[in-house]
Amino acid sequence: MYVNVAILKETQSHERRVALMPSVIPKLIKLGAKLHMQAGAGDAIKLGDAAYPNVEFFADRRELVKDADVVLGVNAPALEVIDAMKAGAILISFIYEHQDPAVVHRLLERKITCFAMERVPRITRAQSMDALSSQSALAGYYAVQLGSTALARILPKITTAAGAIGPAHVLVMGLGVAGLEAVATAHRLGAVVEGYDVRAETAEQVESLGATFVSTGIDATGKGGYARELTPEEKTKVTVVLTQHIQKSDLLITTAAIPGKASPKLISKKQVAGMKAGAVIVDLSAEGGGNCEDTVPGATIRLGQVTLLAPLNVPSLLGEDASELYAQNQYHLLELIMKDNIISIDWTDEVLAKTCLTHAGKLTQEPPKPAKPTAKAA
Ligand SMILES: NC(=O)c1ccc[n+]([C@@H]2O[C@H](COP(=O)([O-])OP(=O)(O)OC[C@H]3O[C@@H](n4cnc5c(N)ncnc54)[C@H](O)[C@@H]3O)[C@@H](O)[C@H]2O)c1
Repeated sequence: MYVNVAILKETQSHERRVALMPSVIPKLIKLGAKLHMQAGAGDAIKLGDAAYPNVEFFADRRELVKDADVVLGVNAPALEVIDAMKAGAILISFIYEHQDPAVVHRLLERKITCFAMERVPRITRAQSMDALSSQSALAGYYAVQLGSTALARILPKITTAAGAIGPAHVLVMGLGVAGLEAVATAHRLGAVVEGYDVRAETAEQVESLGATFVSTGIDATGKGGYARELTPEEKTKVTVVLTQHIQKSDLLITTAAIPGKASPKLISKKQVAGMKAGAVIVDLSAEGGGNCEDTVPGATIRLGQVTLLAPLNVPSLLGEDASELYAQNQYHLLELIMKDNIISIDWTDEVLAKTCLTHAGKLTQEPPKPAKPTAKAA
């Protein structure tokens, strides 16, 4: 007995990640997987097909998925891929159902059981499957690298015979997974780092990383550990305090997000106009419209003497490491649904019930009813 697992090549422009890395192959085989992959799936991170032992390659993605029990991807697949999958097969990838209702519609029509990676609950037991966190951590690290190369100055203090320079001041706004990684990275590189978030609990976290928390006296901790939206009065109070910190920073990294909403605007045009000459802003929230009023998602712009970078799909810029962590996340999820070389889904498992988006032609807001295990005879 074995489970047919198929891994797609990503097709979105600027996407370099791939859902399978060679290090995960032995572990998947041990779970009972027979591996199939689209030819060239690892090309964007310079992993040719030969780097994947014990995997059968297919040039045509419809041929690849037609007998698959499980299909793995990073982004939601093309509709023609879903159409080619067999009814009852499992798809595991990021879906973001509100961004692409046509995909969800087709998953329902084709009776695909879809586990959407962005739905993995943020609970301790599911940390190893949490791709939002693994990818955000890399983005936070890379924001500092991008910002520091756009600066015309260094981050640490150095002393030379000619005199001493630095250190640079870095302010990170939004202290979720990406923000805390940015704080840690900038601190390691020798900058003087400040962090700000509307959730007061982040003060201790940022201080444990050697940075200072910017306190505004407002706590906007909302449901499930995420932030809530601020009231207009709270926004005014916060702006007054933050302006001073924004305008003394050399590098400003913003990562603020509220689930299901556009990115909150934290930096106004007026605040940018008062920033130091040569300062750099890296807006990691460009996907949700950005945290700066001036942000142009995907573009780098000059605003007077300030440079504003708003890169999209930052984890993909570190495609090799992002793929490694993502493939491990998917492996840990597969560990929950593959037992003794067959698929066996325990719908009473909170992680599976919450991660599942569609099952048997229905949207699974509630845990779906138990289904019979499916398997393929050898
Ligand atoms: N227990 C777990 O396994 C686990 C794993 C990952 C994340 N989490 C928690 O999930 C939560 C969300 O993490 P995330 O990285 O997805 O965050 P996110 O991407 O949703 O948001 C990034 C940060 O922006 C902040 N923010 C929102 N509005 C803001 C504003 N107006 N000004 C300043 N900051 C603002 C948020 O508080 C958050 O810290 C956090 O509490 C995190 O600790 C828990």
